[in-house]
Amino acid sequence: MSDLLWQKDGVRVDAQIMAFLAGSDVLLDRELLPYDIEASKAHAEGLGRIGLLSAQETADLLRELDVLAADVADGRFVLDDRYEDGHSAIEARLTERLGDTGRKIHTGRSRNDQVLVASRLWLKNRLQQVHAICRDIAAVCLARADSDPALPMPGYTHLQRAMVSSTAMWQAGYAEAFIDNALRARQALDWIDANPLGTAAGYGVSLPLDREHTTQALGFARVQLNPIYAQLSRGKFEIAAIDALGAAMLDLRRLAWDLSLFTTGEFGFVGLPAEYTTGSSLMPNKRNPDVVELLRASYAPVAAARSEIEHLLSLPSGYHRDLQYSKGSLIHAFGHGLAALALVPPLLARMEWRADKMRAAIDDGMYATDRAIELAGQGLPFREAYKQAAEQPLPQHGADPEASLAARVSPGAAAALGLEMLKSRLSDL
Ligand code: ARG
Repeated sequence: MSDLLWQKDGVRVDAQIMAFLAGSDVLLDRELLPYDIEASKAHAEGLGRIGLLSAQETADLLRELDVLAADVADGRFVLDDRYEDGHSAIEARLTERLGDTGRKIHTGRSRNDQVLVASRLWLKNRLQQVHAICRDIAAVCLARADSDPALPMPGYTHLQRAMVSSTAMWQAGYAEAFIDNALRARQALDWIDANPLGTAAGYGVSLPLDREHTTQALGFARVQLNPIYAQLSRGKFEIAAIDALGAAMLDLRRLAWDLSLFTTGEFGFVGLPAEYTTGSSLMPNKRNPDVVELLRASYAPVAAARSEIEHLLSLPSGYHRDLQYSKGSLIHAFGHGLAALALVPPLLARMEWRADKMRAAIDDGMYATDRAIELAGQGLPFREAYKQAAEQPLPQHGADPEASLAARVSPGAAAALGLEMLKSRLSDL
């Protein structure tokens, strides 16, 4: 390992203890490294602006940080356990290339605000991805609700046959859900869009750091002002981001549940694209919806990450090394969540509805509510209409699912889906 930033003369470094301290941290820092480099550039510029670095030193640091960023991007520089963490690697590299100028990069900052700013930028990027994928999912659902024929399908409550529903209403329902999930990602992004760089170890420093500049240079909406609050926000902001991801994953879990049920032999409402199914190693007859099942399971690592970070935060104010463990769960949760969400738009675009199977599962009882309301519309008290419809469920149009859907005019329902309203909400996101 390269020299430790904090090594004191005469104190032995124990390998087992070092391994425990660092753990997989340096490998997790691979995720954060591009953002750490970007923030280091803003920090160097800020030091230049207050005269702590000469114009030449600033230019040299910026150039070497760009070279490092390019080396990281194309794999010429790989962060590994030669370093304690990504922060040490940046300083070691700048020192190797620029000598004393490299040793100046850490003036007025601490690894405590360094990890905060890098993870904040990472979080913003991941929330942008959640936002974009949720929009894509909503767009596919809306497009199909708009252009596919609205096929009748059974609507269930308690998994018991309830009322006639339609594929378009199902699709528009998930479209609205994912519009809201995109909105939630946007709101979480706005909420965490604050720059902690310049709060140092958590108590500020005796330098007039140009925090407005670093805020602007890094594209933050505002400065996160108080150094103690900056430390308090670590973990708290991670939870806010995970909750936004979790909202999408909760809807995905129910969507995947629907699909796994609808593809059973018993239901048979849906055919999945072949690549989304797998065979059995033993049973030659099987096509299994494994992908859909893993989409359903992907909520678990997200919920687990939230729980792990919440447990870590049982801490007094100020930096504590405990917080390092928030990185692994966070990266794991977003890795799982984004990979799952990314598979959804093509799945929804290509799955096929089986009109005949769905129609065959609609029985006469599913018109009873239509009939009760028809009778109530003729002036019968609803309780009386309800009784009569239980005896004789068919409305005037008879057992006709299309007619039932055409009459479903309450706003949002099958005959008044309001797709234009959903489209305009989607385009406003
Ligand atoms: N790997 C550490 C973390 O994630 C970086 C900060 C180390 N700071 C310290 N004071 N030891 O929190």
